[in-house]
Amino acid sequence: MPTITIDNRQVEVDNGATILDAAAKLGIEIPTMCFLKGYKPSTSCMVCVVKVNGSDNLVPACGTIAEEGMRVESDSEEVHQARKAALELLLSDHVGDCIGPCQAACPARMNIPLMIRQIAAGKLGDAIATVKKDIALAAVLGRICPKPCEQACRRTVFDEPVSICLLKRYVADLDLQSANPYSPACKPGRDKRVAIVGAGPAGLAAAYYLQIDGYSCTIFDDHEKPGGMLQYAVGEQQLPRDLLDNEIALVRKLGAGFQGTTRIGTTLTMEDLRRDFDAVFVAIGKLELGDAESMGLQTGPNGIAINNRTYETNLPGVFAGGGTVRKRRLAVRAVADGKEAAVAIGQYLSGRPVTGPPIAFNTRIGKLKDGEIEVFMAGVAKGNRVTPSPEGSGFSTRQARDEAARCMHCDCRKPQSCKLRQYARQYRAKPSRYKGQRRSFVQQLQHPDIIYEPGKCINCGLCIQIASQAREPLGLTFIGRGFDVRVAVPFDHSIAEGLKHAANQCVEACPTGALAFKGKNGSTGSPSRANSRDRPQNKHES
Ligand code: SF4
Ligand code: SF4
Ligand code: SF4
Ligand code: FES
Repeated sequence: MPTITIDNRQVEVDNGATILDAAAKLGIEIPTMCFLKGYKPSTSCMVCVVKVNGSDNLVPACGTIAEEGMRVESDSEEVHQARKAALELLLSDHVGDCIGPCQAACPARMNIPLMIRQIAAGKLGDAIATVKKDIALAAVLGRICPKPCEQACRRTVFDEPVSICLLKRYVADLDLQSANPYSPACKPGRDKRVAIVGAGPAGLAAAYYLQIDGYSCTIFDDHEKPGGMLQYAVGEQQLPRDLLDNEIALVRKLGAGFQGTTRIGTTLTMEDLRRDFDAVFVAIGKLELGDAESMGLQTGPNGIAINNRTYETNLPGVFAGGGTVRKRRLAVRAVADGKEAAVAIGQYLSGRPVTGPPIAFNTRIGKLKDGEIEVFMAGVAKGNRVTPSPEGSGFSTRQARDEAARCMHCDCRKPQSCKLRQYARQYRAKPSRYKGQRRSFVQQLQHPDIIYEPGKCINCGLCIQIASQAREPLGLTFIGRGFDVRVAVPFDHSIAEGLKHAANQCVEACPTGALAFKGKNGSTGSPSRANSRDRPQNKHES
């Protein structure tokens, strides 16, 4: 029974145990990608490297047996850099978009492809929850958003962008008209109060997400009614006021209070708010002369000066966002600011470090190569954009489903559980560090439940081992040589033929989105049962 030291802590392990086993016994977390307990280590990813006995050569913890007296470093800068480089090497040969180009372009980062799958599956309750997770005023934005998502939509390469904004409006309108519009569960009250100055899109969104998080908000505005520029600057035809009022009522329903005809700086002072509330969010839209000074806030070239990640101003506990901190005032950016500031305010109020929302790691395919749009389009509805009539109206259910069928689902289906994405974020890996010529995008859709995307495979071989243990008649194997080695079904058979029994197990073991559930019932990451629009089995490796 050898005893080894990891990061100056001793541990005794069974004969034959690895450094990874020893670390686990000490509660030290070592990242792993190609290793899975119960399977033969392939030691191919080198993400688990550690330094042993001061040697210059780092070794994989998953495949190195612990020997008496070993001294292991698992947390030094050198180890950290080696893991980062290992991740960057994996990313250099990786073809995928963690999130769709549409979502990446949306200032609020709404999960557009998921919403579209939910619409296609007729799961409108799920679709409105998806929308409102990021866009508190969905019916409003469904009418006035300048649609940066549609400008970025990959479908444009083929013909016209998916009508994302009208799909969102369809979901939001049906919800607003229903007997019981969507109202998310709020966490239990936390006994902390937030004053929100300004009842425009940023202030309303901040109130929405803070109330959900258990904070009690009061919104102050110098106008009589809430809504800010939505109420007082946008035309009635573009944004009917009853619709605006109904959507604002949903924010109030979560418990947010409203006090109109109250100007901060005259009726009430910033000192009053800071004394009576635990935090303040300033979202007064366009600054007028003297506004910032009357509240004791510093300004910069774009408005009130803030920390761009945390929305903190020069006054402790006072945050600012929306048009009041930006030159370009967009309602969707304001709604996004409200959501993000709510995260930072929550961190501040709960005594955690104020870092703002986490920064996600996203790989991107970027510009498509010749022939790749056809791969994306395989099985997707070919027609032009569906246009509602009369102009300016919304989609019918039929139209919404037809338009939803035009989406190519560019996003990865494992963004939450992909270890490559998780570690790339943790180790701040840069996908461009070793980038060369990228391989072509390929998607295999022949299996009824799962997708295989070889461009996301890290060649860990776990699926090959699993298929073999499950006695799959064909199973999977490595084909090709050197840098071109790939996992495939022998004799050019399809993934459906290769994985007749072990598909679910392979998806669960696959450390990336290379093998993933289709999520065609509008869910993410589980085997699909209900089905709305199954793509034909016609995408093949080129
Ligand atoms: S496999 Fe992981 S890193 Fe690759 S696109 Fe999917 S989530 Fe992103
Ligand atoms: S085709 Fe769908 S997933 Fe792809 S960018 Fe457009 S809306 Fe997003
Ligand atoms: S497809 Fe197989 S070999 Fe490739 S990463 Fe997934 S489990 Fe590993
Ligand atoms: S080499 Fe150890 S997890 Fe990949």
